[in-house]
Amino acid sequence: MPGALVTGGASGLGFAISRALVERGFEVWIADIDEGAAAAAAAQLGPRARPLWLDVADRAACDSAAAAVTDLAVWVNNAGILRTRPSWEHPADEVAAMFAVNTTGLINGTLAALAVFRARRRGHVINIISLAGLVAPPGETVYAATKHAALAFSTGTLLDLRAAGVRDVHISSVCPDGIWTPMLYDKVDDPQAAPSWSGVMFRPEQVAARAMTLIDRPRPILVLPRWRGALVRTFDAFPRLGLRLAPLVMADARRKQRAFARKGRPPA
Ligand SMILES: NC(=O)c1ccc[n+]([C@@H]2O[C@H](COP(=O)([O-])OP(=O)(O)OC[C@H]3O[C@@H](n4cnc5c(N)ncnc54)[C@H](O)[C@@H]3O)[C@@H](O)[C@H]2O)c1
Repeated sequence: MPGALVTGGASGLGFAISRALVERGFEVWIADIDEGAAAAAAAQLGPRARPLWLDVADRAACDSAAAAVTDLAVWVNNAGILRTRPSWEHPADEVAAMFAVNTTGLINGTLAALAVFRARRRGHVINIISLAGLVAPPGETVYAATKHAALAFSTGTLLDLRAAGVRDVHISSVCPDGIWTPMLYDKVDDPQAAPSWSGVMFRPEQVAARAMTLIDRPRPILVLPRWRGALVRTFDAFPRLGLRLAPLVMADARRKQRAFARKGRPPA
C-alpha cells in the first residue's frame, strides 16, 4: 500500500486531504504539532491512518518522518498559521513563527520527501500555498510574504529537479482562495482578515477533491478558483492599478465578511 504524509493533517484542509488520501487507498500519516488532535483525526479515519507528532519547523524531525513512512509516495506540506495585522504591527516572534511554519516548515518537508523520492526517482510533493502566495493583501501581508517564499521555493525546486534530469519526481503547488477551516473560525469579525472573504469561501472537502486530481496529473501550480488567479495576477502585473483598486476590493471583502458573519456560518 503506498504511503502518504500530510503535515497539519489533524485539522481543516489537512484533515480533508488525509481523508481523501485514505479513500484513494493510501496509508496516511497524519503529522501534526497537536499530538492529541492527530490521534483523534487518525482514529476517525480508521486503520489506514496513523498519527505522528511532528513540528515542521524541525528539519531533523521531518527527515526522520520521511524515512519512517513505508513506501512513501506522496508528501503534502499543508501545515500553516495565519496572524493578521498591518505588517508593522506584528511582534517579531509572530513574524518568525509564520515564517517557521509556512516557509521553513514547507522547505523542511519538501527536502525531507525529496531525499526519499530522488533516491527512488519517483514521488510527489504537494505544497499547500494560498492565493496570498500570488498577491499580498492588506492585513495579511506577512502571511502573504511567507506564502510567496513558499511558492518560489516550490516552483524553483521543481526546475532544479528537471535541470538535474529527474523526471518522475513532481512538486505541485495549490493556491486556494478562502477555506472555511479553524484557521478562520476566530477571524470572522477581524477586519484585517477580510481578504480571506474577498472571493470564494470553499469547504475543505472541495479543495481536497481538487488537490486529489494532482495525484493523477501533477501541475506546477493549481489556482482555485482559476479565475481568481487571473485576477490577482493582474494586480501583481500592474501594481499601480492594484493600489488604486485595493480600497474598493477591501470594502467589498469586508461587506462579504460581515454578511458571512450575519447569515450564520456553515457548520464547522
Ligand atoms: N483557511 C484558509 O482560508 C486557507 C486559504 C488558503 C490556504 N490555506 C492554507 O491551507 C493550509 C491548511 O490550513 P487550514 O485552513 O486547514 O488551517 P487549520 O488551522 O485548520 O490547520 C492547520 C494545521 O496545521 C497544524 N500546525 C500548525 N503548526 C504546525 C507545525 N509547526 N508543525 C506541524 N503542524 C502544525 C495545526 O495544528 C493544524 O492542525 C495552510 O497552509 C494554510 O495557510 C488556508
